[in-house]
Amino acid sequence: MNALMQRLNLRVPVVLAPMAGGPGTPELAAAVCEAGGLGSVGSAYLTPTQIREAGAQVRARTDRPFALNVFVPEESAWPEAEAVARAAAELAPFHAALKLPPPTLPQRVSEDFAAQFAAVLEVRPDVLSFTFGRLSADHLRALRARGILTVGTATGLMEARALETDGVDAIVVQGGAAGGHRGGWLEDELADTPTLTRSVAAAVGVPVIAAGGVMNRAGVRAVLDTGASLAQCGTAFLRAAEAGTSAPYRAALAAAGPSDTTLTRAFSGRPARGLRNAMTRAAEQPLPYPYQNALTRPLRAAGTAAGRADVLSLWAGEGVEQGREDTAANILAALW
Ligand SMILES: Cc1cc2nc3c(=O)[nH]c(=O)nc-3n(C[C@H](O)[C@H](O)[C@H](O)COP(=O)(O)O)c2cc1C
Repeated sequence: MNALMQRLNLRVPVVLAPMAGGPGTPELAAAVCEAGGLGSVGSAYLTPTQIREAGAQVRARTDRPFALNVFVPEESAWPEAEAVARAAAELAPFHAALKLPPPTLPQRVSEDFAAQFAAVLEVRPDVLSFTFGRLSADHLRALRARGILTVGTATGLMEARALETDGVDAIVVQGGAAGGHRGGWLEDELADTPTLTRSVAAAVGVPVIAAGGVMNRAGVRAVLDTGASLAQCGTAFLRAAEAGTSAPYRAALAAAGPSDTTLTRAFSGRPARGLRNAMTRAAEQPLPYPYQNALTRPLRAAGTAAGRADVLSLWAGEGVEQGREDTAANILAALW
C-alpha cells in the first residue's frame, strides 16, 4: 500500500489506461474499479454531453474512484490546400474500395476543449489524467479546487520535470512499448518502461505511474520495483469482454505477433503505436494532428462497419501477443 493507492482507495496497484476512440467504455472502467483497480474513461473524442453521460454510467455501476482523461489541445495552423490534397490522395483508393466519397477535411476537426473541460469539472471524477502536453495553471487550479487529482503524461525526464513544476499530483511515464498515442510534447525517449520509471522516480517528488508493455504480474512487479506507485495497462484490457473494441480490431489483436506493431502518424497525424496494416504503409504524408484525425474519421468508421481491419487504427503495445479474451476482473486479477 503506497500513498497513491491509499488516496484512491485501491486494492490493486493497476490503472486501466484511458482508451479513447472505442475500446475504453464506461462499463470497462467500472469493472476495473469494482475489481480494485483505477478505471479510466478516455474522453478526448467525446462531446461534453457524452462526457457527462460517461461519468453517470460509471457512477451507476460503481461507487469507487475513477478517472477521466483528455488530450491537451495543440495550437497548429490550418494546413495548406496542397498538403490536404496530398494526404487526401493517399486515402482516396481506400475510400473508393469502400464506396465512400473522396476524403475532405471537415470545418470542425476536434471537440471544443473548453466545453469538454467544463463537463469534466461537472462530472467531478476522482482523477483527471491528460496527455499531449501541459494544462494551464488555471485548469489545474480549477481541478484542485474540486478535489480532482491531476495526472500528466511524460515520455521523458524533461517532460516529467515540467509537469512536476506545474504542480501535478502524479505523472504517467510512457515507455516506448506503449500502445496508442505518444503522450509527449518535447523529446520522446521511447525508453524501456522500467528504465524510464527508474530515472523519473529518482528525479521527481511526485508519484509515478508506469505505462508501456506491462502485460502480466512480472511486468507490474518490475515497474513497482523501479519506483512506480502504480502500473497503467491498456493493451492488456483491449480484448476484455467489457471493452468497446470492434470485431475486426479484436480479430487483428488475436492474430498479432510480438513484432507486428509500429509507430505511425497515418491515422491522426501524431505518432502512435499500433498494428501494421495497409494504412500504416500507405499514408506517407499525413496532415498534422488533429487534421489527419478528422480526415481519416469517415474511413475508419466505414472500415469498422465493413469489418475491414486494414483501414483501422489498431492501437496496440509491443506486448500485444500476451493479451487475451476474458472479463476485466479476471485480466486485472492476472496482473496482481
Ligand atoms: C487503444 C488505446 C487507446 C489509447 N488512448 C489513450 C487516451 O485516450 N489517452 C491517454 O492518455 N492514453 C491513451 N493510450 C495510451 C495509454 O494511456 C498507455 O500509455 C498505454 O496503453 C500503455 O501501454 P500498453 O498498451 O502496452 O499497456 C491508449 C492506448 C491504447 C492501446
